[in-house]
Amino acid sequence: MPELSRRNVLIGAIGLAGFAAVSACESTAAVPPNAESVRRGEALRRRSGQRLVTARLTARPTSIDLGGPVVNTWAYGDSVPGPLLRASAGDLLRVRVDNRLPTSTSVHWHGIALRNDMDGVPGVTQAPIGAGTSFTYEFTVPDPGTYFYHPHSGVQLDRGLYGTLLVDEQADPGDYDVEWTVVLDDWVDGTGRTPEDVLTDLKGSGGGTPDQGHDMGGTGMGDMGTSNGEAMTSPLLGGAGDVIYPHYLANGRIPAAPVTLAAKPGQRVRLRLVNAGSDTAFRVALGGHRLTVTHSDGFPVAPVTTDALLIGMGERYDVLVTVGDGVFPLVALAEGKTGNALALVRSAAGTPPAASARPAELEGKVTLSTDLRAADTVRLQPRQVDRSHDLLLGGSMAGYRWTINGEAFPDGDPLPIEAGQRVRLRFQNRSMMFHPMHVHGHTFALVRGGARKDTVIVRPMQTVEVDLDANNPGQWMTHCHNIYHAEAGMMTTISYQA
Ligand code: C2O
Ligand code: CU
Repeated sequence: MPELSRRNVLIGAIGLAGFAAVSACESTAAVPPNAESVRRGEALRRRSGQRLVTARLTARPTSIDLGGPVVNTWAYGDSVPGPLLRASAGDLLRVRVDNRLPTSTSVHWHGIALRNDMDGVPGVTQAPIGAGTSFTYEFTVPDPGTYFYHPHSGVQLDRGLYGTLLVDEQADPGDYDVEWTVVLDDWVDGTGRTPEDVLTDLKGSGGGTPDQGHDMGGTGMGDMGTSNGEAMTSPLLGGAGDVIYPHYLANGRIPAAPVTLAAKPGQRVRLRLVNAGSDTAFRVALGGHRLTVTHSDGFPVAPVTTDALLIGMGERYDVLVTVGDGVFPLVALAEGKTGNALALVRSAAGTPPAASARPAELEGKVTLSTDLRAADTVRLQPRQVDRSHDLLLGGSMAGYRWTINGEAFPDGDPLPIEAGQRVRLRFQNRSMMFHPMHVHGHTFALVRGGARKDTVIVRPMQTVEVDLDANNPGQWMTHCHNIYHAEAGMMTTISYQA
């Protein structure tokens, strides 16, 4: 991504070479990433005898077999998803990132309430990791749960650059026999177009007629790969996406060559689901089974049993399943689009289901995050809201500009808040497209006892209110996790000092 001018201005003001030199200057508008308050926050998370977990990621061009199609792409090492990283809550994670890509990159630790200078946002929390250079991330992982990592540089996430980060509880309750992690993705890279080509097409498509632009139904008029005027809509989401993908993947495989998840009949499985897609929400169901949702974005919820689950980009869910006897399709329908990802659940001999299997559960009860309640242990303490911010989500396919409060990032000012405040964010969707809104460095709570989360789907014309406690000073990106919307402007920051 070409560095955006205002980001450069921000960085210029901070002085990338000398963050420390200005850290004493307590401006609320731009908190230096390595401010004293950031260091103090990290010191509070650290414990003596803290375990150190080290890992290494090499971002590089490679070719990947998706289970038939072989694509040239960028990945961490030679697999998609990248290496599974695993630590326990309270551990110190040290990850060296070697950048062998032809361009600069970064790694963001999605959902982790970490120190701001390790958040991985180039131009805001660190300098980009230049081609051929390395950067070592080092931070305490405070909370258990299912997380993932990906670049925060342009639309690199829509390549093969993502992987799961699991943080275990120090005292694992272990109320399951088997654990599976399934990462979902929408795939275009190496099929004749790169994600950068897709973004260029979206921006160049001009949204067809002005009418369509104002209808904002996600009906782009771009070349192949954007929607060709075909409306991608869903009863659950309204405008469901801007990009038609040739493939949908579960753990890096197309449905014709799915991964197999093995268990014995009657075993209890903890299934961790991650949506690493860039423009696709998935409706997930397991044929012949019901799912008991136990965690959303890493944090426990009051368990809910459902037929299917809707997962926006950037969301994660943990579910418990008691496995039946046979072979079953775990289907992730590309919501509002044509196609699906698939994994096979196998506990006995049997004929595998078709690649396009559509278990009845997909049409049963579908749970969204707004249907969930936080578990008692993680409910935000009730208190007065000190500061509210409205985030009006706008934009359309016309000109492909997506905005928060009318501004496309990097225009617009950071939303001011102060340390210690209870902050309410009101995401008000004024467009006809759904937006999975994500806040860095915090796990907010949907108001009135709703789930703790870091990413929440906001449907067209819907308002979703979330509360967070400003207890992690820094500059934190707040943005749509549709990576094309984010790159087209739907990002802002919240910013505060201790
Ligand atoms: Cu996974 Cu700024 O996002
Ligand atoms: Cu969006």
